[in-house]
Amino acid sequence: MVTTNTTAQSARTNNGARPTPVQYAHIVGWGMAVPETVMTNDDLSAIVETSDEWIRTRTGIRERRIASDHESTATLGLKAAQHALEVADVLPAEVELVICATSTPEHIFPSAASLIQAWLGANNAGAFDLSAACSGFVYGVNIAAQAIRSGSIRTALVVGSETMSRVLDWSDRSTCILFGDGAGAVVLKASDVDGGVLSAVLRSDGTGGDLLGIPTVGSLDIEGVTEISNGHKFGKMHMNGGEVFKFATRVIGDSLTQAAQQAGITLADIKLIVPHQANARILHAAARNLKISDALFMSNVERYGNTSSASIPIALCEAVQQGRIQPNDYIAFVGFGGGLTWAAMVVQWGSPQVTAGTSNFINRQRRQLSYRLAAWRRTLLRASRSIGSSFARLRPEHGRMDRLKHKAEQHPFE
Ligand code: ACO
Repeated sequence: MVTTNTTAQSARTNNGARPTPVQYAHIVGWGMAVPETVMTNDDLSAIVETSDEWIRTRTGIRERRIASDHESTATLGLKAAQHALEVADVLPAEVELVICATSTPEHIFPSAASLIQAWLGANNAGAFDLSAACSGFVYGVNIAAQAIRSGSIRTALVVGSETMSRVLDWSDRSTCILFGDGAGAVVLKASDVDGGVLSAVLRSDGTGGDLLGIPTVGSLDIEGVTEISNGHKFGKMHMNGGEVFKFATRVIGDSLTQAAQQAGITLADIKLIVPHQANARILHAAARNLKISDALFMSNVERYGNTSSASIPIALCEAVQQGRIQPNDYIAFVGFGGGLTWAAMVVQWGSPQVTAGTSNFINRQRRQLSYRLAAWRRTLLRASRSIGSSFARLRPEHGRMDRLKHKAEQHPFE
């Protein structure tokens, strides 16, 4: 049950710019998953010429997590999603949309979101991956919230998951020291209670596409595209750190101010900003530009490095765990990264402080059953498809098709 507070509500004036939604979209569940393996700055200095001192003073990062051979973007995303469903006490069958923001999917398709959907047993959901680099989670939450606010769905799962370690050039000290692996997820649910996702500013400037990227199959030898990917290693990340730094400090302030205005509040009303965790110095510069305290920015970059689209939901989970977000607080998300893309959002936290473990016992068993059934369903469906195609080969019409194919090969112009 979502509660609301009239004092907090009165801080927000509806200036008439936005129509009243059919339903409000509240964040009711959150979860995170990071690999166990910790890579410290000292570990890195054994790989490239760097030092703990350089990395800490230039970035604020001390360590990051690195996926094992058994972990991938979808497996980490699945764990984060399961935690989020647990906190929300939502069953997989209730989920109608799964969005996975990622730049490191296992495949171009099937999407990581479809794998997560199948593993959860979320059989009533649509699923897709979203590519907006480190802004992807905020883009995803906005799309899910819009679908809820329009009344077309009631429950959505948004995951941000990355295995950046697989796209790093481990010989490039200017990038490999910055990134880590991990996943975070939120569940959004429809409610009649005012609040939840109040505003979002999504922006892109593709003219900066050359400043950071990961060239992949479609980028080879294509006129107009190679100017972006040329000279960079296939499948590996490249970045012009200095330019990205300047871009980030500028857009954080601008987009947060716009998102607050759109929500009908001011920056002074915001209790916590959960930013993309790229570099402690970027956050310090953004706070200085906005004339706000550094403490208003949630930061855990020290322990995870830059986990791209996963960094905001991971930081959100830790902020909730630390009691830094209370019901009815206005909080903001802000992301920036490749594209170039950036995005800011204001959320009125309407959810009670649910702690994992308090969700309904029967529903917990039903979720576990859904995960087991999903695994059996996968095995059964794949087996039945392969038996079906073996039988199809024995059917008479299949023989006819083979004869026709043979004839066409023998007499191609007949
Ligand atoms: N260890 C030691 N020295 C290093 C390292 C390292 N790991 N990396 C670079 N250096 C050296 C450089 O070679 C350079 O040496 P030189 O002066 O002899 O030429 C010197 O340190 C300074 O290098 P700069 O690149 O100027 O260092 P800067 O202070 O700009 O920090 C950094 C670099 C940390 C990358 C910074 O620019 C940054 O954080 N940029 C933003 C990155 C970011 O936010 N990305 C977010 C988006 S990510 C996404 O969308 C997926």
